[in-house]
Amino acid sequence: MSMHAEDDVIAPISVERSPASSLASSAVSAPNADRAVASRTLTFDTRRLSKDFADQGAFLYLEDFLAPEVTAQLVQSARGLLDEVNRNYLPGHKQGGSVSRHTIDRLAPFIAELYRSKELIGWLEQLSGDKLQVSPADDPHAYALYYYTRAGDHIGWHYDTSYYDGRRYTLLLGVIDESSCRLDYELHTRNPDVADQPGSVQIPPGGLVFFDGDKLRHRITPAGANEMRVSLTFEYVTDPNMRPWRRFISNMKDAIAYFGFRQVFRQMTKRRKDPA
Ligand SMILES: [Fe+2]
Repeated sequence: MSMHAEDDVIAPISVERSPASSLASSAVSAPNADRAVASRTLTFDTRRLSKDFADQGAFLYLEDFLAPEVTAQLVQSARGLLDEVNRNYLPGHKQGGSVSRHTIDRLAPFIAELYRSKELIGWLEQLSGDKLQVSPADDPHAYALYYYTRAGDHIGWHYDTSYYDGRRYTLLLGVIDESSCRLDYELHTRNPDVADQPGSVQIPPGGLVFFDGDKLRHRITPAGANEMRVSLTFEYVTDPNMRPWRRFISNMKDAIAYFGFRQVFRQMTKRRKDPA
């Protein structure tokens, strides 16, 4: 990633950046996150979905989850934040772009509101059977947009490993999918009593995937030329405590693979200056 790209992340908002800076004000017309989530979850057979989640080794896919007005708001934000994307490249493993929570907080506050929605968290708790908490303020994965906009953008096989003391759940929401990218996954890989079960889905706008990060082996297959895919990731934890050496590994990984050193370590420095 170039210094220029990282400079973009912390540059003061100028006239040239007005398309992105106007995103925050467009949130005035954003839907009410709790109401919009409840309008959907009340129609689901959550008890059955919870059983499906458990039977599939802590994994669930729903192709139609979000209320249409929420999907529309996310699409608008994803397109408006294109200038804010931080590109990253790890040979053989990962190529793509991301917009971190810190940029989302500034320019697309509806996404942060959706992340904290009590209705959403309550429903995910029913699915998982765990008490869930939002991730700490210095975790750039708490909510982030991932962009696959160039040929070959992908992420190789991995787990969303928890560096926290408790479990880490990932919620993937489809935002834009004008691509051939697929989420390939393998269920039960950490359960010696159940045979591994491969699967593959394309997540349409408004679709949902929810899983325990340490249990689901998964990847996103490479984008073709002139394709575009954007997904929104929310991370929830059962215990936000993290041992210092794990925090160091997690920060290094984020700096190299996702958000850039300047952004990750700026947050660390802020934290040190302001222990509150
Ligand atoms: Fe992942």
